[in-house]
Amino acid sequence: MDMKSTKHQETISKMTLEQKFRFLTGVDSNATYGVPELGIAPMYCHDSPFGPRVPLSRNEYATQAASAFPNSSGNKEAVATAFPTGCALGATWNRSLLKEVGQAIGQEHKAYGVTALLGPAVNIKRHPLCGRNFEYFAEDPFLSGELGAAYVIGAQKNHIAACPKHYIANNQERGRFSVSSEMDERTMREIYLAPFERIVKKAAPWSIMCAYNRINGVYASESSFLLDDVLRKEWGFDGVIISDWGAVKNRAYSLKASIELCMPYQKEAFFQLQQAYAAGEITDEEIDGAVDRLLTLQDRTNESPVEPAIDFKKHHMLAVQAARESITLLKNDGTLPLQAEAVKRILIIGERADQPFIGGDGSSRVQNPAMLTTPLQEIRHILGQDADIDFWGESEINTFDHEVGVLEGKIAEAAKAADAVIIFANQDYSCTSETMDRNDIEIPPYQEHMIRAAHRVNAHVIVVLNTGSAISTYKWSPCAHAILVSWLGGQGMGRAVAETLFGLNNPSGKLAETFPKRLDDVLSLRDYPGDGYKTEYREKLMVGYRHFDTNNIEPEYPFGFGLSYTSFSYSDLEINGRTVSFLLKNTGCCAGAEIAQVYVSAPRCSWLSHPQKELKGFEKVYLRPQEEKRVVIALEKRDFQYWNPMLHDWVSEPGEYHIFVGSSSRTLLLSAPVYIKDEHKITFAASAE
Ligand code: BGC
Repeated sequence: MDMKSTKHQETISKMTLEQKFRFLTGVDSNATYGVPELGIAPMYCHDSPFGPRVPLSRNEYATQAASAFPNSSGNKEAVATAFPTGCALGATWNRSLLKEVGQAIGQEHKAYGVTALLGPAVNIKRHPLCGRNFEYFAEDPFLSGELGAAYVIGAQKNHIAACPKHYIANNQERGRFSVSSEMDERTMREIYLAPFERIVKKAAPWSIMCAYNRINGVYASESSFLLDDVLRKEWGFDGVIISDWGAVKNRAYSLKASIELCMPYQKEAFFQLQQAYAAGEITDEEIDGAVDRLLTLQDRTNESPVEPAIDFKKHHMLAVQAARESITLLKNDGTLPLQAEAVKRILIIGERADQPFIGGDGSSRVQNPAMLTTPLQEIRHILGQDADIDFWGESEINTFDHEVGVLEGKIAEAAKAADAVIIFANQDYSCTSETMDRNDIEIPPYQEHMIRAAHRVNAHVIVVLNTGSAISTYKWSPCAHAILVSWLGGQGMGRAVAETLFGLNNPSGKLAETFPKRLDDVLSLRDYPGDGYKTEYREKLMVGYRHFDTNNIEPEYPFGFGLSYTSFSYSDLEINGRTVSFLLKNTGCCAGAEIAQVYVSAPRCSWLSHPQKELKGFEKVYLRPQEEKRVVIALEKRDFQYWNPMLHDWVSEPGEYHIFVGSSSRTLLLSAPVYIKDEHKITFAASAE
């Protein structure tokens, strides 16, 4: 990299080589090296994408804020709004909401003096077992990229750097520090680079975090190809690259690959730079270029003063709204919404009603949520004093103390007397955790037994899945009259769940990841988790719905699926150039939002094979009962292109493409062919016309 800006030349010329080397690596877990005499202040890089995690000790404002929340100052981190995690935000499919949420999270970080907010996490959910799927938005690169870009735009309004991560292909936690994600060029471009490309081009993040893993044998932290050639030169990224915590193996190699900041403090980094410099392996130009770009980050983030106060009430309401929009209704025979006036006695089973999982474990976990209500409290609030609420938590249902048969009998007895039964189901907390993948996608057998037992005697059994990723429901779903997914929905989740159960919120979330019937149906299972050294991505483009739809495998619930308490109709598709428009009507009797999706399929006579169809557009539309709107979605040139590995470029072939519009990847309600006549780069394909 050349040193582009001359603004910092004077400062850089005054820095000693030692100061420069120190500046290129953290001084502790979160801070960079400051040189006060040259006006270089330390910068601070903090988790998480769902709310700040800042130590109380470092920030006066954090301590002040904590004293306003005496109940939540039990540990050493600042109070923060715990927003819904990536899986929940992904299910909202709502760009403007993501912008607002990004802005609020960025504002909290800014208030705590953070320079770079370590998120959003936009890796593709390649495999349902990945322990960090709960942090990621989607299995689809277009959706991930659109939501990630909206988040970054919102966050950076605060003059703080967003830091999309983990660049790239950190798709499993097993062996995450060294496993090599092995893939061909087209797969890399179309699936794993694509969300980052979209974010860089649409939102210009001021930083990016490289992944721990290797890609085709080369550490992400040392890949000049990915970091310099693609990210900077091809896409025009002009921010700084921060290593994931401990991802740098050799500081000199990572500097050569253009990583400005190695995090956190690593004793050996300084000596590695010293040695490499002495050996002539790294140049002054490379060192000064990196220092210059870090100083530019400092200028950018210094442009506005620290935000003085966080409006926790306002942010709580935004967290509630985001949780509401994320709730995904998978099944409903009419049981939901419950009518509060008609419910006299209700049986609520499952510890998560009282101790909800609002986030996953690891670096993204917001430790001190500013406000938190549980589903149980909120249900009590809605039903009032008169209703009889029978709650069975851990002590009543754990199978160490209760033999399953006996438990089933007791549940049946209690369920018989109830107007409805709500069962909160979940996997163990370790199934939603950084550093660990899960072993299966099932809920524990005792929870299945509870659902079955309740179903035998009660006609209104509702299952709330408090999960961070896909769950297989097919074994027990016939025994559930309604199923909704609350995800790991942040501090507003309790309220959102209760409101949805009682019709005060009309669910509008849609799956951003396929829910398979069985794990075996997932194509990448054959290569997961690899041999300990590498994981071959032999499924290539066939990730998530691309595989299920192309290979005609029935998922339990498809990508893009989610029910509402109202209904929608689609009609009158018009295609004008690259603009798709259609009429969307709310045909039911309550207000609601629909996420309309546009998929494109490539010509049959294409020279390369393609997924049956791919998501290229979506819009979340709010409609009053009987209201109708024309939805307009503009497609881009890229939406008709694929990566050609011979030409190393995006190309479109002439031929007949199909546009599909629908409410999920499997419910395609409108379609029309479009023809591309002009040949771009490919000169040998015949026109289908
Ligand atoms: C995680 C990153 C996180 C960093 C700092 C790493 O282990 O992979 O996502 O931002 O730690 O906590």
